[in-house]
Amino acid sequence: MEALDYAQEHRDDFVEELKEFLRIPSVSTQAVHKPDMERAVTWLQVCLLEAGFERAEVMATPGHPVLYAEWLAAGPQAPTILIYGHYDVQPPDPLDKWHTPPFTPTVVGDDIFARGASDDKGQLFIYAKAAEAFKETAGAPPVNIKCIFEGEEEIGSPSLTPFIHAHKELLAADLAVISDTAILGKNIPTIIYALRGLAYIEVEVTGPSHDLHSGLYGGAVHNPINALCAMIASLQMEHAKGKPGNEDGYITIPGFYERVRTLSAEERAEFAKIPFDREAWLKDAGISTAWGEPDYTILERTKARPTLDVNGIWGGYIEPGVKTVLPSKAYAKISMRLVPDQDPETITQLISEHLKAIAPPTVQVEVRDLQGGAAAIVRRDSGAMQAAFQAYAEAFGTKPVFMREGGSIPVVATFKEVLGIETILMGFGLPDDNLHAPNEKVHQPNFYRGVETVIRFMTLLGSEA
Ligand code: BES
Ligand code: MN
Ligand code: MN
Repeated sequence: MEALDYAQEHRDDFVEELKEFLRIPSVSTQAVHKPDMERAVTWLQVCLLEAGFERAEVMATPGHPVLYAEWLAAGPQAPTILIYGHYDVQPPDPLDKWHTPPFTPTVVGDDIFARGASDDKGQLFIYAKAAEAFKETAGAPPVNIKCIFEGEEEIGSPSLTPFIHAHKELLAADLAVISDTAILGKNIPTIIYALRGLAYIEVEVTGPSHDLHSGLYGGAVHNPINALCAMIASLQMEHAKGKPGNEDGYITIPGFYERVRTLSAEERAEFAKIPFDREAWLKDAGISTAWGEPDYTILERTKARPTLDVNGIWGGYIEPGVKTVLPSKAYAKISMRLVPDQDPETITQLISEHLKAIAPPTVQVEVRDLQGGAAAIVRRDSGAMQAAFQAYAEAFGTKPVFMREGGSIPVVATFKEVLGIETILMGFGLPDDNLHAPNEKVHQPNFYRGVETVIRFMTLLGSEA
């Protein structure tokens, strides 16, 4: 196929262009990078126009802009796919742990190291280059393409849901495609069919109205940090040594598991067949012993079971040296990964009520809802899924496996709910790409295979029409 040849011949050009994109520090959460967000979205706009898109528009939102682009030359009888990606990246911190500067893309062997290399600039760039390959060979892609690239994914997409509601017509498509996940290994193409959701809260516990001397008041005034720690500890069953069940990780919030879909025997059998190297996994995580629900395997725990984690906890004196203070306030950020069919709003309400119910009468508790996103599970029996399966198989020379993923991409549920379309999660990252961590990278052969898979996928979809 000519488009494939073109992509193969221009690999080096693609990499040079990607490096340009990766040089822009589009960190959505930091106000100082607002101009960089503008630069990144404009760069992408130009990139898509040069790749042949008929229209590429930077559309303002209350937050960072959305880039909408379309190329509808395949005609009304051909399917229309909606491609989603995000041009924002996580902060690079901690900077001193990077071996090369995060915004100076550096090729080491087969890898390009840079923040956003895999999540998600390197992956959304695949679509620009697949489109370009069609432009330079066939003249236009075999399917109609719409793109929605946002700049707020890493901060929970606050503007995206309203944007999708407001532009239902513009975004109308037959299916959505997202490359923002990983495959299980370099030679194990993987189609993700479920993602976890998220409910994220901040808790503020107040004890005395002001800080007190812990020598003068300690013993008779309940310390809010102590109280908060006890409350948090009670949210999860601890290692129940000697007790029946040994329910590590079981979440005690009443109603929490009510809507959790049980894993079918077939799904568990599928999980069991996934190649999993426990020792390598432990080493990669930097731990010596795994933890969690004893009735589930590590893969099941991390991909298909709900969780509760404290992401941060603070209060009192944390500077060097001692200060004998009995603080007035204690805070924690707590997030829960959710699975189908848990509803983030319901879960947030359940934990808020529960924290208030278990709070001792000596403190006051306030809970703030910071973020929510629903889990997603997509159809595996559609024609488009078959096309994805075949495209992966041809590009990688081996059949893809189906897998769930533990991370969250809340837009998948929104596409289903608001646009009524299924999503295909066509990821090309690797498990050791260091997403959100120092030394993020993209493995170049995966990037090339990504372009190839997408070209094959679009060709297959287009030929079905
Ligand atoms: N691309 C990731 C999600 C992901 C990573 C899915 C690896 C599957 C495999 C995405 O950019 C991300 O980081 N999502 C956040 C969502 C949150 C900010 C709402 C997450 O999962 O923490
Ligand atoms: Mn991402
Ligand atoms: Mn991310």
